[in-house]
Amino acid sequence: MRLLAAELIEGREILPGQFLQTYDAPHLTSARAGQFVHVRTPDYTGLVLRRPFSLNTVDRASGTITIHFRVTGKGTEWLARSRAGERLEMLGPLGRPFEVDPRSQHLLLVAGGLGIAGVRLLVDEAIAAGRAVTLLFGAARAADVYPSALLPDEVEYVVATDDGSLGHHGPVTELVPDYEAWADQLFACGPFAMLRTLAHQAAGRDARLGVARLGRRRGGRTPAPGTARARRRAWLQVALEQHMGCAVGACLGCVVWGTAGPVRVCREGPVFAAGEIAWEPA
Ligand code: FES
Repeated sequence: MRLLAAELIEGREILPGQFLQTYDAPHLTSARAGQFVHVRTPDYTGLVLRRPFSLNTVDRASGTITIHFRVTGKGTEWLARSRAGERLEMLGPLGRPFEVDPRSQHLLLVAGGLGIAGVRLLVDEAIAAGRAVTLLFGAARAADVYPSALLPDEVEYVVATDDGSLGHHGPVTELVPDYEAWADQLFACGPFAMLRTLAHQAAGRDARLGVARLGRRRGGRTPAPGTARARRRAWLQVALEQHMGCAVGACLGCVVWGTAGPVRVCREGPVFAAGEIAWEPA
């Protein structure tokens, strides 16, 4: 983790109110999928707080990273208006990444809306490792659907919209049962309600498919919760989106309830095995 300046190379609006920006930030290109950066603008008059952004893509050859964000307030408004050459403070890479089981060849990714930014880097990592990737994307309407042109050709991309204007008519989670026998692991980012539905689906998956499917026997001791091994052995991993103050574990502003007590999304997460999160209110 390092705090260094990053220079904006280019930015554009890719969806209504959503921007994709490329930064020269070699210190962040060691990041793994699921990790994030904490960004502070150079406007110290009214924008002193940093904002967290998923590392959307990284390019080690060019030393660049991208972030994908929606304009939701003054900080993101400022970012959206910034021009090439602008320099920001970026602290990162932060947080714990997704962990892919080395035996997993078929990865199912589910993204709801801006949650695509949380899993987008995993697409690149998985394809580079020779894995097959299916990405299920959910949006309210066709106008909000992530452009397929921003994805590698190797990905199977399936869309669901709430209003039926493109792809499956209904929640993206309704698509998951069609893939749960094919997928070795599922990785998701999006609204909490979507992740909760996926967690419930995942809990019943072994019973539906049979736990002793060829190649998926996972013997040995149960790994300790919160470890990379626990995430690697989970069928479903989720990246939680949460407001953050410090992003380094000090302010407790990002705490959510886990099954073993409170957890900080910035330190113990943002990626968790689904079984580590208390999905229902106590
Ligand atoms: S944002 Fe401060 S503890 Fe997580």
